[in-house]
Amino acid sequence: NRDLIKWVNFDVKGDERGSLNVIESSKDVPFQIERIYYIYGTRTGVTRGYHAHKDLKQVLIAISGSCNIKLDDGEYSTVVHLSSPERGIYLDSLLWREMSDFSSDCVLLCIASSYYDEDDYIRDYAEFKSYVLKRG
Ligand code: TYD
Repeated sequence: NRDLIKWVNFDVKGDERGSLNVIESSKDVPFQIERIYYIYGTRTGVTRGYHAHKDLKQVLIAISGSCNIKLDDGEYSTVVHLSSPERGIYLDSLLWREMSDFSSDCVLLCIASSYYDEDDYIRDYAEFKSYVLKRG
C-alpha cells in the first residue's frame, strides 16, 4: 500500500563542487529533532529492526548505498527501497519496520523525535497488532 510511503524530499544545494543537503529541525522534517544515529558496516544478509514505536517519529535516509525497509501498519505492508541522499522516508509512530538488503557501503541516517527510550519500543509483532487494534 503506497499510503504507507511518505517521502521527505530535500533541497539539494548542488553546484560545481558537488552537493550539500541541510536538515533543520521542524522545517525539513515534520518534528523537532532530539536524536540522530546511523547504521553502517552492516554485514551481508543481516536484517534489523523488527519493532515499532508507540510515539517516536523518524526520518530515515540512505546517505550512502542502499537498503530495503518493510513497513507494516498492522493492516497493510510494503517494501521501500532507500537509495538516495536526496530524500528520506518519514516513519510515523506505530509502524512495524524491518530493514534488509543493506549494501556494504550503506550508511542509514536515522533522525528521531525523542531520546532513546526502550519503553517506547514494541518488539513483539503480536503485541504490536493488539496495540494498534486497541488504539483503533
Ligand atoms: P536496535 O534497536 O537493536 O537497532 P535496530 O532496531 O536498528 O536493529 O539497537 C541496537 C543497540 O543499540 C541496542 O542495544 C540498543 C542500542 N541503542 C541505543 O542505545 N540508543 C539508540 O538510540 C538506538 C537506536 C539503539
